[in-house]
Amino acid sequence: MTTTIPSIDVIDALSQEYAKKDPSEIIELALNQAGEIAISFSGAEDVVLIDMAYRLRKPFRVFSLDTGRLHPETYQFLDTVRKFYNIDIEICFPEATDVHTLVTKKGFFSFFEDGHKECCGIRKVAPLRKKLATLDGWITGQRKDQSPGTRTDIPVIQSDTGFSGIDKSLIKYNPLANWSSQEVWSYIRMMEIPYNPLHEKGFISIGCEPCTRAVLPNQHEREGRWWWEEATQKECGLHIGNVKK
Ligand code: ADX
Ligand code: SF4
Repeated sequence: MTTTIPSIDVIDALSQEYAKKDPSEIIELALNQAGEIAISFSGAEDVVLIDMAYRLRKPFRVFSLDTGRLHPETYQFLDTVRKFYNIDIEICFPEATDVHTLVTKKGFFSFFEDGHKECCGIRKVAPLRKKLATLDGWITGQRKDQSPGTRTDIPVIQSDTGFSGIDKSLIKYNPLANWSSQEVWSYIRMMEIPYNPLHEKGFISIGCEPCTRAVLPNQHEREGRWWWEEATQKECGLHIGNVKK
């Protein structure tokens, strides 16, 4: 059954109602929503979203932002997932002219000198904005435990005001918001689904190759991302609503 697009005022109530439900039920709700909905897949442990959607036996869409700077293992993993589930993964690329201008003027590693915002803006946020303009809702793998500085308050369903258009509101589903890393990994092992081989090399959170590193035992996963920057700024703009002003 397809439901209508919920208005902003009912989203909070819906989020409360679904807060304690299984992630798969939240994905089912999202896939039943009217309009175009897609899973945003980073090529990491958020593969569980794809697995859950697949098991619901409903049509679903998946997109990935190819920044051009992902690890070789991540590109291979995207292909593994594509074949494993026999799905298309819609790959979003940045504007070539913007990347060209950035690297021509500032080189390939400007983010180490003046922060990740400019490069992330070009390689991730602009392509995401373009993609979301074609959608009514998106499903992300964000979790509260991923980033103590920015994600502790994320709800399971929210109105994504940062990316909504003037005439269209966008719904963001975070089905894994209340799951711990341990629950995600129990699911991956129990269901025997493929995972990014970087996880076997000490990587927990995985982003672009130059801006991600392995962490030590008991180091928080977010410490492996943009490690030269302050914890409360560790959002690249995909989930900009998480950063407190
Ligand atoms: S990030 O904002 O810091 O890069 P993170 O790596 O924690 O995000 O991933 C959280 C969620 O954001 C992922 O589960 C996924 O839904 C989305 N996401 C992050 N990177 C990408 C990407 N390259 N392509 C598509 N979705 C992404
Ligand atoms: Fe650029 Fe690093 Fe952001 Fe990737 S994570 S888009 S390489 S600044």
